[in-house]
Amino acid sequence: MTNDTKAAPIGIFDSGYGGLTVFKEIAARLPGYDYLYLGDNARSPYGTRSFETVYLYTLQAVNWFFKRGCPLVILACNTASAKALRSIQQHDLPTMYDPTNRILGVIRPTTELVGSLTSSNKVGVLATNGTVSSNSYPIEIQKFWPEVEVYQQACPMWVPLIENNEFENEGADFFISKNVAALMAQQPAIDTILLACTHYPLLKNKIEKLLPAAVKVLSQGEIIAESLAKYLQRHPEMECRITKGGKTSFYTTDNTTSFDEKGSLFFGKEIASRHTKLPDDELLHNF
Ligand code: DGL
Repeated sequence: MTNDTKAAPIGIFDSGYGGLTVFKEIAARLPGYDYLYLGDNARSPYGTRSFETVYLYTLQAVNWFFKRGCPLVILACNTASAKALRSIQQHDLPTMYDPTNRILGVIRPTTELVGSLTSSNKVGVLATNGTVSSNSYPIEIQKFWPEVEVYQQACPMWVPLIENNEFENEGADFFISKNVAALMAQQPAIDTILLACTHYPLLKNKIEKLLPAAVKVLSQGEIIAESLAKYLQRHPEMECRITKGGKTSFYTTDNTTSFDEKGSLFFGKEIASRHTKLPDDELLHNF
Protein backbone atom coordinates (compact mmCIF):
# COMPACT_ATOMS: atom_id res chain seq x y z
CA MET A 1 0.00 0.00 0.00
CA THR A 2 1.52 3.29 -1.04
CA ASN A 3 1.41 6.24 1.41
CA ASP A 4 -1.33 8.05 -0.47
CA THR A 5 -3.53 4.95 -0.94
CA LYS A 6 -6.84 5.19 0.91
CA ALA A 7 -8.95 2.23 2.03
CA ALA A 8 -11.94 1.40 -0.19
CA PRO A 9 -14.62 -1.28 -0.72
CA ILE A 10 -14.11 -4.73 -2.23
CA GLY A 11 -15.21 -4.75 -5.88
CA ILE A 12 -17.52 -7.52 -7.11
CA PHE A 13 -18.03 -7.87 -10.86
CA ASP A 14 -20.29 -9.88 -13.13
CA SER A 15 -21.62 -9.55 -16.67
CA GLY A 16 -25.03 -8.99 -15.09
CA TYR A 17 -27.04 -10.46 -12.25
CA GLY A 18 -25.22 -13.77 -11.75
CA GLY A 19 -22.53 -12.36 -9.49
CA LEU A 20 -25.25 -11.48 -7.01
CA THR A 21 -25.60 -15.19 -6.13
CA VAL A 22 -21.93 -15.13 -5.11
CA PHE A 23 -22.10 -11.72 -3.49
CA LYS A 24 -25.11 -12.82 -1.42
CA GLU A 25 -22.92 -15.48 0.25
CA ILE A 26 -19.92 -13.15 0.58
CA ALA A 27 -22.06 -10.50 2.28
CA ALA A 28 -23.46 -13.14 4.67
CA ARG A 29 -20.02 -14.57 5.48
CA LEU A 30 -18.17 -11.20 5.66
CA PRO A 31 -20.81 -8.60 6.57
CA GLY A 32 -18.44 -6.05 8.10
CA TYR A 33 -16.76 -4.92 4.87
CA ASP A 34 -17.92 -2.38 2.30
CA TYR A 35 -18.64 -3.59 -1.24
CA LEU A 36 -19.10 -2.13 -4.70
CA TYR A 37 -21.07 -4.37 -7.08
CA LEU A 38 -20.98 -3.77 -10.83
CA GLY A 39 -23.17 -5.63 -13.33
CA ASP A 40 -22.42 -5.03 -17.01
CA ASN A 41 -26.04 -5.77 -17.95
CA ALA A 42 -25.93 -3.57 -21.06
CA ARG A 43 -23.37 -5.95 -22.63
CA SER A 44 -24.49 -9.23 -21.05
CA PRO A 45 -24.33 -12.13 -21.78
CA TYR A 46 -20.57 -12.59 -21.99
CA GLY A 47 -20.77 -16.38 -22.40
CA THR A 48 -21.23 -16.33 -26.16
CA ARG A 49 -18.63 -13.64 -26.85
CA SER A 50 -15.07 -14.07 -28.14
CA PHE A 51 -12.00 -14.25 -25.92
CA GLU A 52 -10.92 -10.77 -27.07
CA THR A 53 -14.29 -9.20 -26.27
CA VAL A 54 -14.61 -10.77 -22.81
CA TYR A 55 -11.03 -9.72 -22.06
CA LEU A 56 -11.65 -6.13 -23.16
CA TYR A 57 -14.97 -5.82 -21.28
CA THR A 58 -13.50 -7.35 -18.12
CA LEU A 59 -10.43 -5.12 -18.28
CA GLN A 60 -12.70 -2.08 -18.59
CA ALA A 61 -14.61 -3.25 -15.51
CA VAL A 62 -11.44 -3.85 -13.50
CA ASN A 63 -10.27 -0.36 -14.50
CA TRP A 64 -13.63 1.05 -13.28
CA PHE A 65 -13.08 -0.48 -9.83
CA PHE A 66 -9.42 0.53 -9.55
CA LYS A 67 -10.30 4.07 -10.54
CA ARG A 68 -12.67 4.13 -7.57
CA GLY A 69 -9.90 2.97 -5.26
CA CYS A 70 -10.94 -0.69 -4.78
CA PRO A 71 -7.78 -2.62 -3.90
CA LEU A 72 -9.37 -6.05 -4.41
CA VAL A 73 -11.74 -7.09 -7.20
CA ILE A 74 -13.59 -10.40 -7.32
CA LEU A 75 -14.62 -11.56 -10.79
CA ALA A 76 -17.86 -13.24 -9.69
CA CYS A 77 -18.28 -14.52 -13.24
CA ASN A 78 -16.87 -17.78 -14.58
CA THR A 79 -16.72 -16.53 -18.14
CA ALA A 80 -14.63 -13.50 -17.17
CA SER A 81 -12.51 -15.63 -14.82
CA ALA A 82 -11.92 -18.20 -17.59
CA LYS A 83 -11.22 -15.82 -20.43
CA ALA A 84 -9.72 -12.68 -18.91
CA LEU A 85 -8.36 -13.15 -15.39
CA ARG A 86 -4.96 -14.61 -16.20
CA SER A 87 -4.21 -12.12 -19.00
CA ILE A 88 -5.19 -9.17 -16.84
CA GLN A 89 -3.18 -10.44 -13.87
CA GLN A 90 -0.09 -11.07 -15.96
CA HIS A 91 -0.13 -8.30 -18.55
CA ASP A 92 -2.23 -5.42 -17.20
CA LEU A 93 -2.21 -5.40 -13.41
CA PRO A 94 1.51 -4.56 -13.09
CA THR A 95 1.00 -1.25 -14.94
CA MET A 96 -2.50 -0.32 -13.76
CA TYR A 97 -3.23 2.13 -10.92
CA ASP A 98 -1.45 0.25 -8.11
CA PRO A 99 0.44 -2.98 -8.84
CA THR A 100 -0.33 -4.21 -5.32
CA ASN A 101 -4.07 -4.31 -6.15
CA ARG A 102 -5.42 -7.82 -6.62
CA ILE A 103 -8.04 -9.55 -8.79
CA LEU A 104 -9.46 -12.94 -7.80
CA GLY A 105 -11.67 -15.26 -9.84
CA VAL A 106 -14.16 -18.01 -9.04
CA ILE A 107 -12.60 -20.99 -10.82
CA ARG A 108 -9.63 -21.82 -8.63
CA PRO A 109 -11.45 -22.00 -5.25
CA THR A 110 -14.07 -24.24 -6.83
CA THR A 111 -11.61 -26.60 -8.48
CA GLU A 112 -9.54 -26.90 -5.30
CA LEU A 113 -12.58 -28.32 -3.52
CA VAL A 114 -14.48 -30.35 -6.07
CA GLY A 115 -12.29 -33.46 -6.04
CA SER A 116 -12.96 -33.98 -2.33
CA LEU A 117 -16.68 -34.29 -2.98
CA THR A 118 -16.77 -36.97 -5.67
CA SER A 119 -16.67 -40.71 -4.92
CA SER A 120 -16.85 -41.88 -8.52
CA ASN A 121 -14.11 -39.42 -9.61
CA LYS A 122 -16.45 -38.32 -12.40
CA VAL A 123 -17.37 -34.65 -12.21
CA GLY A 124 -19.78 -32.77 -14.47
CA VAL A 125 -19.49 -29.08 -15.32
CA LEU A 126 -22.44 -27.03 -16.56
CA ALA A 127 -21.33 -23.64 -17.90
CA THR A 128 -21.53 -21.06 -20.66
CA ASN A 129 -20.02 -21.70 -24.10
CA GLY A 130 -17.14 -19.39 -23.22
CA THR A 131 -16.23 -21.20 -20.01
CA VAL A 132 -16.53 -24.65 -21.64
CA SER A 133 -14.45 -23.73 -24.68
CA SER A 134 -11.72 -22.20 -22.49
CA ASN A 135 -11.27 -25.68 -20.93
CA SER A 136 -10.39 -23.92 -17.66
CA TYR A 137 -12.26 -26.38 -15.45
CA PRO A 138 -10.71 -29.60 -16.82
CA ILE A 139 -7.25 -27.98 -16.78
CA GLU A 140 -7.53 -26.61 -13.23
CA ILE A 141 -9.21 -29.73 -11.77
CA GLN A 142 -6.47 -31.87 -13.32
CA LYS A 143 -3.85 -29.87 -11.38
CA PHE A 144 -5.43 -30.52 -7.98
CA TRP A 145 -7.16 -33.86 -8.64
CA PRO A 146 -5.39 -35.81 -11.42
CA GLU A 147 -7.58 -38.87 -10.82
CA VAL A 148 -10.82 -36.94 -11.53
CA GLU A 149 -12.40 -37.06 -15.00
CA VAL A 150 -14.29 -33.93 -16.01
CA TYR A 151 -17.25 -33.85 -18.40
CA GLN A 152 -18.49 -30.47 -19.62
CA GLN A 153 -21.78 -29.33 -21.10
CA ALA A 154 -22.39 -25.84 -22.48
CA CYS A 155 -25.86 -24.41 -21.76
CA PRO A 156 -26.07 -21.38 -24.07
CA MET A 157 -29.75 -20.68 -23.47
CA TRP A 158 -29.68 -20.62 -19.69
CA VAL A 159 -28.23 -17.14 -19.06
CA PRO A 160 -30.61 -15.39 -21.53
CA LEU A 161 -33.57 -17.24 -19.95
CA ILE A 162 -32.46 -16.18 -16.47
CA GLU A 163 -31.56 -12.59 -17.43
CA ASN A 164 -35.00 -12.23 -19.01
CA ASN A 165 -36.76 -13.75 -16.01
CA GLU A 166 -38.14 -16.59 -18.16
CA PHE A 167 -36.54 -19.40 -16.22
CA GLU A 168 -39.66 -20.57 -14.36
CA ASN A 169 -41.68 -21.44 -17.45
CA GLU A 170 -42.01 -24.60 -19.58
CA GLY A 171 -39.85 -23.22 -22.37
CA ALA A 172 -36.99 -23.00 -19.91
CA ASP A 173 -37.65 -26.55 -18.67
CA PHE A 174 -37.05 -27.85 -22.19
CA PHE A 175 -33.55 -26.36 -22.38
CA ILE A 176 -32.65 -27.28 -18.80
CA SER A 177 -33.65 -30.95 -19.31
CA LYS A 178 -31.91 -31.10 -22.68
CA ASN A 179 -28.55 -29.89 -21.33
CA VAL A 180 -28.66 -31.91 -18.10
CA ALA A 181 -29.52 -35.07 -20.09
CA ALA A 182 -26.67 -34.35 -22.52
CA LEU A 183 -24.21 -34.07 -19.63
CA MET A 184 -25.33 -37.32 -17.98
CA ALA A 185 -25.30 -39.11 -21.36
CA GLN A 186 -21.57 -38.36 -21.61
CA GLN A 187 -20.92 -40.24 -18.36
CA PRO A 188 -23.75 -41.78 -16.28
CA ALA A 189 -21.38 -42.29 -13.30
CA ILE A 190 -21.07 -38.53 -12.69
CA ASP A 191 -21.85 -38.01 -8.99
CA THR A 192 -20.95 -34.31 -8.59
CA ILE A 193 -22.09 -31.50 -10.87
CA LEU A 194 -20.62 -28.04 -10.68
CA LEU A 195 -22.82 -25.09 -11.60
CA ALA A 196 -19.92 -23.24 -13.20
CA CYS A 197 -21.85 -20.12 -14.05
CA THR A 198 -22.91 -17.72 -11.33
CA HIS A 199 -26.38 -17.40 -12.88
CA TYR A 200 -27.20 -21.08 -12.51
CA PRO A 201 -28.00 -21.28 -8.77
CA LEU A 202 -31.43 -19.95 -9.71
CA LEU A 203 -31.97 -23.23 -11.61
CA LYS A 204 -30.56 -25.49 -8.90
CA ASN A 205 -33.91 -26.91 -7.74
CA LYS A 206 -34.98 -27.69 -11.28
CA ILE A 207 -31.64 -29.34 -12.07
CA GLU A 208 -31.73 -31.47 -8.91
CA LYS A 209 -35.19 -32.77 -9.79
CA LEU A 210 -33.83 -34.11 -13.09
CA LEU A 211 -31.06 -36.11 -11.41
CA PRO A 212 -30.80 -39.14 -9.11
CA ALA A 213 -30.82 -38.03 -5.45
CA ALA A 214 -27.22 -39.22 -4.99
CA VAL A 215 -25.85 -36.68 -7.48
CA LYS A 216 -24.56 -33.55 -5.72
CA VAL A 217 -25.21 -30.21 -7.42
CA LEU A 218 -22.79 -27.51 -6.27
CA SER A 219 -23.26 -23.75 -6.40
CA GLN A 220 -20.18 -21.59 -6.00
CA GLY A 221 -21.38 -18.84 -3.64
CA GLU A 222 -20.45 -20.40 -0.32
CA ILE A 223 -17.20 -21.79 -1.70
CA ILE A 224 -16.10 -18.36 -2.93
CA ALA A 225 -17.18 -16.65 0.30
CA GLU A 226 -15.14 -19.08 2.40
CA SER A 227 -12.16 -18.76 0.11
CA LEU A 228 -12.31 -14.94 0.32
CA ALA A 229 -12.49 -15.09 4.12
CA LYS A 230 -9.35 -17.25 4.17
CA TYR A 231 -7.60 -14.99 1.64
CA LEU A 232 -8.19 -11.93 3.84
CA GLN A 233 -6.88 -13.81 6.89
CA ARG A 234 -3.74 -14.78 4.98
CA HIS A 235 -3.26 -11.25 3.61
CA PRO A 236 -3.51 -8.67 6.40
CA GLU A 237 -1.76 -6.17 4.10
CA MET A 238 -4.84 -6.35 1.85
CA GLU A 239 -7.41 -6.66 4.64
CA CYS A 240 -6.33 -3.32 6.13
CA ARG A 241 -6.99 -1.61 2.77
CA ILE A 242 -10.71 -2.46 2.82
CA THR A 243 -13.24 -0.13 4.41
CA LYS A 244 -15.39 -1.64 7.13
CA GLY A 245 -18.78 0.03 7.26
CA GLY A 246 -20.98 -2.92 6.21
CA LYS A 247 -22.30 -0.91 3.23
CA THR A 248 -22.84 -1.89 -0.41
CA SER A 249 -23.33 0.24 -3.52
CA PHE A 250 -24.77 -1.42 -6.63
CA TYR A 251 -24.08 -0.19 -10.15
CA THR A 252 -25.39 -1.41 -13.50
CA THR A 253 -24.52 -0.39 -17.05
CA ASP A 254 -28.19 -0.81 -18.04
CA ASN A 255 -31.57 0.21 -16.67
CA THR A 256 -31.57 0.62 -12.89
CA THR A 257 -35.28 -0.19 -12.44
CA SER A 258 -34.82 -3.58 -14.14
CA PHE A 259 -31.64 -4.20 -12.19
CA ASP A 260 -33.38 -3.51 -8.88
CA GLU A 261 -36.35 -5.74 -9.75
CA LYS A 262 -34.48 -8.71 -11.16
CA GLY A 263 -31.40 -8.30 -9.01
CA SER A 264 -33.43 -8.78 -5.84
CA LEU A 265 -34.38 -12.26 -7.11
CA PHE A 266 -30.70 -13.19 -7.26
CA PHE A 267 -29.67 -11.36 -4.11
CA GLY A 268 -32.65 -12.26 -1.96
CA LYS A 269 -32.94 -8.66 -0.70
CA GLU A 270 -33.99 -5.30 -2.10
CA ILE A 271 -31.45 -3.46 -4.22
CA ALA A 272 -31.24 0.23 -5.13
CA SER A 273 -28.73 0.57 -7.96
CA ARG A 274 -27.13 3.48 -9.77
CA HIS A 275 -26.28 3.74 -13.43
CA THR A 276 -22.75 3.83 -14.79
CA LYS A 277 -21.13 3.22 -18.14
CA LEU A 278 -18.28 1.07 -19.36
CA PRO A 279 -15.74 2.08 -20.37
CA ASP A 280 -16.06 5.15 -18.19
CA ASP A 281 -12.96 6.79 -19.60
CA GLU A 282 -9.92 6.00 -21.65
CA LEU A 283 -8.11 2.92 -20.47
CA LEU A 284 -4.50 3.14 -19.46
CA HIS A 285 -3.59 0.72 -22.23
CA ASN A 286 -3.60 0.46 -25.96
CA PHE A 287 -4.93 -2.79 -27.34
N1 DGL B 1 -22.54 -15.33 -14.81
C1 DGL B 1 -21.49 -15.49 -15.72
C2 DGL B 1 -20.70 -16.76 -15.52
O1 DGL B 1 -20.51 -17.15 -14.42
C3 DGL B 1 -21.67 -15.21 -17.16
C4 DGL B 1 -22.93 -15.27 -17.80
C5 DGL B 1 -22.86 -14.59 -19.16
O2 DGL B 1 -22.76 -13.38 -19.18
O3 DGL B 1 -22.90 -15.33 -20.16
O4 DGL B 1 -20.21 -17.38 -16.42
